[in-house]
This record gives sequence, structure tokens and C-alpha cells, in this order.
Amino acid sequence: MGLCGSVIWVSILGLCFWVAGAAIGVNWGTMAIHPLPPKIVVEMLKDNGITKVKLFDADQNTMSALAGSDIEVMVAIPNNMLAIMNDYDSAKNWVDRNVSRYNFNGGVNVKYVAVGNEPFLSSYNGSFVNITFPALQNIQNALNDAGLGDTVKATVPLNADVYNSPENNQVPSAGRFRADINDTMTQMVQFFNQHNAPFTVNIYPFLSLYASKDFPFDFAFFDGGSAPVVDNGISYTNVFDANFDTLVSALKAAGVPDLPIVVGEVGWPTDGDINGNVKNAQRFYNGLLPRLARKQGTPLRPNIDLDVYLFGLIDEDAKSIDPGHFERHWGIFHYDGQPKFPMDLSGQGQTNKTLVAAKNVKYLPQRWCVFNPDGKANVSKLADNIDYACTFSDCTSLGYGSSCNNLDANGNASYAFNNYYQAQGQKDMSCVFQGLATISTQDPSTGQCKFTLQIDSHANHRVASPLLLVLALVPLAVFMF
Ligand SMILES: *[C@@H]1O[C@H](CO)[C@@H](O)[C@H](O)[C@H]1NC(C)=O
Ligand SMILES: *[C@@H]1O[C@H](CO)[C@@H](O)[C@H](O)[C@H]1NC(C)=O
Ligand SMILES: *[C@@H]1O[C@H](CO)[C@@H](O)[C@H](O)[C@H]1NC(C)=O
Ligand SMILES: *[C@@H]1O[C@H](CO)[C@@H](O)[C@H](O)[C@H]1NC(C)=O
Ligand SMILES: *[C@@H]1O[C@H](CO)[C@@H](O)[C@H](O)[C@H]1NC(C)=O
Ligand SMILES: *[C@@H]1O[C@H](CO)[C@@H](O)[C@H](O)[C@H]1NC(C)=O
Ligand SMILES: *[C@@H]1O[C@H](CO)[C@@H](O)[C@H](O)[C@H]1NC(C)=O
Repeated sequence: MGLCGSVIWVSILGLCFWVAGAAIGVNWGTMAIHPLPPKIVVEMLKDNGITKVKLFDADQNTMSALAGSDIEVMVAIPNNMLAIMNDYDSAKNWVDRNVSRYNFNGGVNVKYVAVGNEPFLSSYNGSFVNITFPALQNIQNALNDAGLGDTVKATVPLNADVYNSPENNQVPSAGRFRADINDTMTQMVQFFNQHNAPFTVNIYPFLSLYASKDFPFDFAFFDGGSAPVVDNGISYTNVFDANFDTLVSALKAAGVPDLPIVVGEVGWPTDGDINGNVKNAQRFYNGLLPRLARKQGTPLRPNIDLDVYLFGLIDEDAKSIDPGHFERHWGIFHYDGQPKFPMDLSGQGQTNKTLVAAKNVKYLPQRWCVFNPDGKANVSKLADNIDYACTFSDCTSLGYGSSCNNLDANGNASYAFNNYYQAQGQKDMSCVFQGLATISTQDPSTGQCKFTLQIDSHANHRVASPLLLVLALVPLAVFMF
């Protein structure tokens, strides 16, 4: 904690690089019912010595909270804005408004612009295939025209399904871009190469495991234990290396063998699936972080300091669960900024090191909404009421293999009712459910199953608002420095 918590210390005490190992980045997503205020999150990043963050938009409150922190930022253009960015003037406006504007002494240290988010996912049916590269070109050109091109690079965070190896030769050296997008991928990587911009890829060993019952369990982790995949004399003992090197081979085939690669997302969820739990997440991070600190690289790119952003920082209970219930449980912190498990971000392997929790978080009063056992209400209405509660709040911890799966029927009802009540900011009318619910001042949590006490967005918001002043002062600041 602390010593290398700020960039100032890092530059004064050069030694800190050695102490801190790799500089880990994190993904800061905000799709939460009651998101933590940005200012609290930025303090939490600093307290944990996290110096790089990847965003999914360019939200003004987030950006103002980051101002002056020196944290390196990847700011983003969501997929639904890619079509607009096919127009150069719109791209220029975006850059003016969301990058140049923060480029002052004490502003935001923007290093990358993410153009889209996994736009070539097969599940998008090609909707973004023809509009991503033009958007990328316009954004990089607008950055160059704004005089920022040397320090700010446009990239596209891509899902690992943009490349593969043939069905009959599943080895990394056979990696190529997916046939249906080969042309646009080839143009894009050559553009990155010309502009000294990196390729950004999201790699998810958890999803490899989730996708296939036949996937060798231990191959998802870094501690060996499964039969290696042998490729031209190289033994691959984990899917992360194999996947990364499949990309290295695809880049080589596309004529850019040395293009730098940023890992935009990598992590392990802690709930919402039989393999999404703290034990597996710890095993995964305990393998990943020391490798990054050792600058081990992969067999085809050995001894490199990989640029990596963990996914994610905080749980997001409003994310779509189309991919699976685990989708809301990727955080290394709970929704309220409490750490989930011991973790040594420096990669020095201290197994008892705890992350620093968010400070000054204001919670709603100590009240929970639970099943009313007085027997007066009509219990045949229970299922409908649970359904309703779960439609408007997060019940993903109730499912098979999840942290609250061992509750009895009444416990289930309590869990669902409480999540709805908390999501609604504890409004009295939100704990009725046709007489089936009642308010309790006792925390109903049992063992692993934690009943939520939501954070108070209003109280927290008052803490955050003076930050907007920073922006109001921008023109003055530019003048002064
Ligand atoms: C800047 O980013 C914000 C947040 O992502 C977005 O809503 C806004 O439209 C962007 N500004 C311009 C001029 O494109
Ligand atoms: C893609 O196509 C499938 C099947 O035709 C459809 O169910 C799905 O909604 C489509 N997705 C998008 C994002 O268009
Ligand atoms: C993308 O462009 C190609 C070639 O011009 C065209 O065949 C294809 O239909 C386009 N795809 C979409 C989704 O617009
Ligand atoms: C992919 O595209 C590049 C450039 O257009 C071409 O040279 C290469 O042969 C293509 N690869 C495949 C497998 O189609
Ligand atoms: C953490 O573990 C290290 C050895 O790995 C030990 O020296 C240290 O005292 C432990 N700290 C705490 C707080 O338990
Ligand atoms: C309970 O609700 C069910 C279905 O809505 C209804 O058929 C039943 O009559 C109700 N029982 C009582 C005691 O009100
Ligand atoms: C509680 O809810 C979960 C998820 O909806 C379900 O799998 C489980 O069977 C329920 N348990 C009881 C006792 O109703």
C-alpha cells in the first residue's frame, strides 16, 4: 500500500518499479444499479497502486474524477457510436470534446482511445464489420490533427474470436484471422502498425472452460497439471499462452509480426456459475499476476512486459446476463468497493495481501426486505412476486453453483425481495409484494450468501459533485500552465 501508489513516488524512487513489478491496469465498468461515485473509485485505484484504467465510454464525471490523478486512461467509443464516427467531423468533435478537452496540466492522462468494444463478436452478425475500420481511421486522424497523435493511440478491443486455428490443426502456430473478417482485420492491423498503435485483445480462459464440457479444467490455469499442447516443439500448458500465441501467428501471417499486443481484458468471475467462485479466481490470479511481474511473456513473445487490464474492477449488477449469470461477478471488488479475496497486484505472490477497500462509502440504512412469515398473505403468489423482483434487480447469486443456491424457498424469496428493495433505494412501497414481504433490521446474510445493503447514491453524489469545478476551470488552467 502506498509506497508506489502514485506516479510521483514512482518517478522519485526509481526502485519502486522493481518493488511493484508489472503495472497492472483494470477495467472500470459502470453498469451498476447504484454505481460507486467516481471520486471514491479513483481514490481506491490510487490506494491500491493501480496506475492504468480502461473505460467503456468517456463519461464526464468519470473523466473529471480522474483529472489530476496521472492514472493512464483508455477512454472508449461504444459500438453504438461507431456509425457516427464514420463521419470525420463527428470523429473530430468526439476527440475535441472527450480527449483534447482534458489535455492540460492536471487534466486526464489519456493514452488510448478504444474504438468500439468487441465489435466483431460473431453474435453481432456482422453489424459493425464495415464501420469499425473507417471509425478507427477517423479517430486516429483526428487525434493526429489535434496534435495528440504521438501520445494518444486509437485501438480496437477485440474478442479473441477474431482469430482461430483450423479445426484439424488446433495449434497456435496455425493462427489466422477469421475468414469472414480477414480483409478488414488485415487492413486494420496494418493501420495500427503505421501509427504505432497496439492490437488490443480480450482473453478469457474462464469462457473457454464455460463453453465446453470437454475443456481440460487445469488448462484454464497457470499451474500446469493438464496434458500440454505441443506445437513445433513448444509445450503449451495453459490456454492463455496458447490463445495469445494464436494471435501472434495471425499477426505474422497478416504481415505485421512485431505489432505490440495489449490484453484489454482478462480475469475470472467469483459467482454465477459452478466454476465462478473465489477459489478458482484466486488460483487464476495467483498464476497470472506473478507471470506478468516476472515479464515472462509467452513462448512466441518471451520476456516482454505485457500491458494488461484486469476484468474487472467492481461487480456490475446491471450488465446483461445473456453470456451467463457470471457476467455480473467479474469484479476484484464487490459492488461497494470491498475486496473479495486476498490479492497481491504487484505479483510478488504474497498470499495474505489484501486490496484496499473503497473509503467513505455511504450505505442506505441498516434495513433489509425479507419474506413475511406471518402466514396472512397468499403464498401461491410467491413465484410471481419473486419473478417480478428478479426482473428489476440482480438474482444471479441464486442459481446452481452460486453463493446463495443453498437457501430454502423462503430464503429465496427474501433474497429476491431484498435486492429489489435495495435497488429501489429502500422505498417503503418497494417492500410489499402483496403482503408477502416485511422490513427487517437484522442482516439476513448466512455464510457465503450475502444480502445486499445498497450504497446511497444521493449521499455519495453530494461528495462527487464539486469535481465538476475542475472542468469549469479548464480554460483558465490551460492559460496558467
Ligand atoms: C463524448 O463522450 C460522451 C460519453 O461517452 C458521449 O456521450 C458524447 O457524445 C461524446 N461527445 C461527442 C462530441 O461525441
Ligand atoms: C443475430 O442473428 C440471430 C439469429 O438470426 C438473432 O437471434 C440475433 O438477434 C441477431 N443479433 C443481432 C445483434 O442482430
Ligand atoms: C459489408 O461490406 C461488404 C462488401 O462491400 C458487403 O458485401 C456486406 O454486405 C457488408 N455488410 C454489412 C453488414 O453491411
Ligand atoms: C487475408 O487477407 C490478406 C490481405 O487481403 C491476404 O493476403 C490473405 O491471403 C488472406 N488470408 C486468407 C486466409 O484468406
Ligand atoms: C503475510 O505473509 C508473510 C509471508 O508470506 C509474512 O511474513 C507476514 O507476516 C504475513 N502478514 C500477515 C499480516 O499475516
Ligand atoms: C390465492 O391466490 C390464488 C391464485 O391467485 C387463488 O386462486 C386463491 O383463491 C387465493 N387464496 C386465498 C386464500 O385468497
Ligand atoms: C431458489 O431459487 C433458485 C434459483 O431460482 C432455485 O434454483 C432453487 O431451486 C430455489 N430453491 C428453493 C428451495 O426454492
